[in-house]
Amino acid sequence: MRDKEIERLIKLEEKRQKGAVNLIASENYVSKDVLSALGSVFTNKYAEGYAGKRYYGGNEVVDKIENLAKARALKLFKISEKKWSANVQPYSGSPANLAVYLALVPLGKKIMGMSLSMGGHLTHGHLVSATGKLWKWSHFGVGKKTELLDYDEISKMARREKPKLIVAGFTAYSRIIDFKKLRKIADETGAFLMIDMSHFAGLVAGGAYPSPFPYADIVTTTVHKTLRGPRSAIIFAAKRRSFIASGEVGFLNEAINKAVFPGLQGGPHVNQIAAVAVALKEAENPSFKKYARQIIKNSRKLSTELARRGWRIISGGTDSHLFLVDTWMRGISGKTAEELLGKKGIIVNKNTIPYDTRSPFDPSGIRIGTAAATTTGLKEKDMLRIADRIDDILKAL
Ligand SMILES: Cc1ncc(COP(=O)(O)O)c(C=O)c1O
Repeated sequence: MRDKEIERLIKLEEKRQKGAVNLIASENYVSKDVLSALGSVFTNKYAEGYAGKRYYGGNEVVDKIENLAKARALKLFKISEKKWSANVQPYSGSPANLAVYLALVPLGKKIMGMSLSMGGHLTHGHLVSATGKLWKWSHFGVGKKTELLDYDEISKMARREKPKLIVAGFTAYSRIIDFKKLRKIADETGAFLMIDMSHFAGLVAGGAYPSPFPYADIVTTTVHKTLRGPRSAIIFAAKRRSFIASGEVGFLNEAINKAVFPGLQGGPHVNQIAAVAVALKEAENPSFKKYARQIIKNSRKLSTELARRGWRIISGGTDSHLFLVDTWMRGISGKTAEELLGKKGIIVNKNTIPYDTRSPFDPSGIRIGTAAATTTGLKEKDMLRIADRIDDILKAL
């Protein structure tokens, strides 16, 4: 690299990433092939529009890449082109979610989702997010005792609020989501059901977590978490007709395509799309199934071992790559825990826990995830060691 200043910083970051145990639930390490595609000449190309209908010349190869990425996305999640379409252009998870709302829900109308403080995402209608300002949201959480989704409560809220869309799929909820129950609630109240599987997409791809596709109208996902691809997102939409945001009857997939481009974005990041295609093929490999199962084994082992050492795990355990630990029960705030662990090379993030009485800037817990650590080859015996280290570091306070 000619730019020595940037080269030095890249090397520093490489060293940091290699030298720490990464337990950030939303991160992962991509393959060299994904990095090559990201750094390829596709970054030079403008390709506004969709395959076969571009606003720029010279897109013959780009069309092939985009079509391949879409076909691989459908194949990986075992859905047919007859019933579903994939849009691989969203720059990331936040614009993907915004595009869905813009396509399906008139501005100012009602949407239902999980509150950020209970495990939802900013783009599920938090007030500081554009999504929270442009639509009227009702937020559900988890039961106070069980710390699990309470489907009766969700059903009651949906019948009362009559939202146009119900959004589920979270950043800090560790359990299996009952998609079937959510479908029933959506049907009873005439709402669309959108599952944001950003966090657990890799687990679905690897057959280690239930698939939302039999139940959802729309599925959004980031590619860079458990799916182990580049920073990017995909929107899957059922090819069916319904009333959409414009007030007309239209195909959901067509409305979403329009909302992504030209509604929200300009030229797609073709280098990203190439890297998405690479990651989707990698996730087809049988070794990815093993990887997905190992992520969950590691997550269960780490949470069980921490519980054995006296730490309270929210909802008593996990069915996924992540879980929350209540550190405040021992008088240690999430911020302090994050800092203490970080100094010793264990990277986690502070997180609110359900019904948190503390502020999100210094909440009562930490979130732990095992997708990145599993990519580096760590297994259950390593989780035992990490549980000991976390316990020792926090107890020393
Ligand atoms: C459930 C969920 N949806 C959407 C997003 C947004 O993705 P991005 O950060 O790529 O905009 C995230 C990211 O953390 C997420 O966890």
